[in-house]
Amino acid sequence: MSNNLLKGKKGIIFGALDEKSIAWRTALRCHEEGAQLVLSNAPVALRMGEINKLAEAVNAPVIGADVTNMDDLKNLFEKSMEHFGGKIDFVLHSIGMGINVRKGKHYTEMNYEWNSKTLDISSMSLHRVLRTAWDLDALNEWGSVVALTYIAAQRVFPDYNEMADAKALLESVTRSFGYHYGVRNKVRVNTISQSPTKTTAGSGVKGFDGFVSYAEKMSPLGNASADECAQYCVTLFSDYTRMVTMQNLFHDGGFSFTGVTQAVIEQMEK
Ligand SMILES: NC(=O)c1ccc[n+]([C@@H]2O[C@H](COP(=O)([O-])OP(=O)(O)OC[C@H]3O[C@@H](n4cnc5c(N)ncnc54)[C@H](O)[C@@H]3O)[C@@H](O)[C@H]2O)c1
Repeated sequence: MSNNLLKGKKGIIFGALDEKSIAWRTALRCHEEGAQLVLSNAPVALRMGEINKLAEAVNAPVIGADVTNMDDLKNLFEKSMEHFGGKIDFVLHSIGMGINVRKGKHYTEMNYEWNSKTLDISSMSLHRVLRTAWDLDALNEWGSVVALTYIAAQRVFPDYNEMADAKALLESVTRSFGYHYGVRNKVRVNTISQSPTKTTAGSGVKGFDGFVSYAEKMSPLGNASADECAQYCVTLFSDYTRMVTMQNLFHDGGFSFTGVTQAVIEQMEK
């Protein structure tokens, strides 16, 4: 069902790897709501070729960019503005990569070079994206930038490892850059803190299935799906949320404010 919430709006979506990706689901939903899109991902991800299916479905060009490379980002924003024939209204940053996580290094034995790379890809990349848009004056007034995060930025989930620190930094960049972009161009910048969701990045976390079922039991509404996250993104890109900025917005079925649930008590009493 479409409500044309994004009619006439133009956006860049980073991070659609395959059809489970939150970015993939969001691209489909934004297209349904009338937006025009450009899709981007790292060159290595584009080589998988999956994204071409999405590009066809949403009638969007694909422009590769490694988010740690400023030349790639400049090229992406310039080409996108050429394609749209004007400035951009929204950006989805749906990017994460934990190198220590991927290589199975425990948090207490962190390899710091890998960790720098993790923080660059997962957190400072949001600064790089915003900085590129800022320098090129690429975003329209009342534009909206959304990045995806996880509650491990506030509370300890031991197996989330270095990604907890990465998400805390991502949320901080959201506030800090959000301030400056708000003052200069009335652009808003927010993070969505999403329930655990079965995607490629999600499944990289040790014990992920346990994570998912624990969160499900601890959330009055249950876990939020990728499609539900996509709908929330649409509202944040729309004109109905113009005064929301610099926020970390929990999209987790109530998990973040629940102390315990009957389902968990029953499990403990078994
Ligand atoms: N899946 C979950 O449980 C969950 C929960 C909360 C938040 N998130 C966040 O949602 C976002 C999207 O993840 P997802 O779950 O859809 O998984 P995903 O694996 O589908 O998406 C991650 C994307 O990051 C891209 N990426 C990695 N390195 C890059 C680079 N150098 N340059 C450009 N792109 C790069 C990958 O190619 C991929 O498309 C991430 O920020 C993730 O941390 C996920």
